[in-house]
Amino acid sequence: PRPILLTRHGESQDNVRGRIGGDAALSEAGELYKKKLANFVGKRLKSERAASIWTSTLQRTILTASPIVGFPKIQWRALDEINAGVCDGMTYEEIKKNMPEEYESRKKDKLRYRYPRGESYLDVIQRLEPVIIELERQRAPVVVISHQAVLRALYAYFADRPLQEIPHIEVPLHTIIEIQMGVTGVQEKRYKLMD
Ligand code: F6P
Repeated sequence: PRPILLTRHGESQDNVRGRIGGDAALSEAGELYKKKLANFVGKRLKSERAASIWTSTLQRTILTASPIVGFPKIQWRALDEINAGVCDGMTYEEIKKNMPEEYESRKKDKLRYRYPRGESYLDVIQRLEPVIIELERQRAPVVVISHQAVLRALYAYFADRPLQEIPHIEVPLHTIIEIQMGVTGVQEKRYKLMD
């Protein structure tokens, strides 16, 4: 069995401010996480020569991967966070106040709701198809450093969770979800590296 390690990027400056989307750098806590992650990956994949590190094209994932050495890194646009369109850069409070109808429609059907000029969870699930095909094809371990909505969708695929649950799955920061694909099915472990 070969592991797939899923993790969100280290905490970003936008996470601290509660802003969605954007392309911010890491916060102080995020900087600490990237070191802890590199240390964990170094130990966990010590004898795995063919492993690879996949990130999105956003700097918070690339920065999180930066201290990991010895493995090739691949950037996927398909691993970028859900595109919040006109709401990019806003806080949930600002959306609620300035665009109450949008806020309510998303609350009602988070899976299907599409941000104006942006994406829905269903859109994200669809664009992940090539990533999933490539992950299934890999013989060696893969570390996927991506974002909350994208990792909910990826995790749901491997853990066989129903579509409707996807937007609500817990994928906390600074936690590694290890998925093992064996003959007996899928096994999961979570490693919380920081509070
Ligand atoms: O807040 C971090 C973040 O990754 C945002 O960039 C993104 O819009 C959001 O999480 C997705 O989570 P939710 O679908 O719960 O709003």
